[in-house]
Amino acid sequence: MQRKPLVAANWKMNGTLSSVNPLLDDILQELDESDSADVVICPPYVYIPVCAAKLADSRIQWGSQNVSEKSEGAYTGEISCDMLKDFSCRFAIIGHSERRTLYGETNTLIAAKFAQLVENDLIPILCVGELLEERESNRTEAVIEEQLNTVINAVGIHHFSDAVIAYEPVWAIGTGKTASPEQAQEVHAFIRDIIRQHDERLATTIRILYGGSVKPGNAKELFSMVDVDGGLIGGASLQAGDFISICHAMR
Ligand code: PGA
Repeated sequence: MQRKPLVAANWKMNGTLSSVNPLLDDILQELDESDSADVVICPPYVYIPVCAAKLADSRIQWGSQNVSEKSEGAYTGEISCDMLKDFSCRFAIIGHSERRTLYGETNTLIAAKFAQLVENDLIPILCVGELLEERESNRTEAVIEEQLNTVINAVGIHHFSDAVIAYEPVWAIGTGKTASPEQAQEVHAFIRDIIRQHDERLATTIRILYGGSVKPGNAKELFSMVDVDGGLIGGASLQAGDFISICHAMR
């Protein structure tokens, strides 16, 4: 495969120092150096310095779960790209469905965040995905096309050269319901086709991750699909053993 697999952990708002330290130690100890997948950990903002300190000499990279679309100023509670770069973040998740549905983030705002990241040489992990009612009313493709094209039209397809896309069907996130490998493949192929309409070559190199109740027991099957280049892992990334098994499933 010409695309390097990637497994990213999204810890969401979980953990405290007392759990974050041993979790990172266990992941470091158990991760096989010979594994080929890129591994990225996205902790809550305040634990990014802990990741930076612990992971600095490892092959694991780290990032944030969100970022401000502004570069600096009077934006109480926000975190800028410069701040993330101070702690050597390489990645930032944007457009997660929890940000879209619980915090009202729109495609336009997410496009502005994407632009801010690429201007700062940070790698966006852009999440897209449909709600259950959208799937049930056959609108999955239309929803994803709009989520993706809003960003592409705002920033230009050339800014996607290092970006990562994560397909996360909202009905599968944290619910224990996983998309079947065939359902995932169908949407991943659709996403790759959208990219192809803008840039033929990029369509072959861009990494598309699957997220939504990925577990050690289903990771291998999902990752075996031709257009699935890895995973964005929520709940299962909070247990070192489970997360490592998922990384190994990418072999
Ligand atoms: P989950 O979350 O693995 O707990 O379903 C995935 C995500 O929201 O990124």
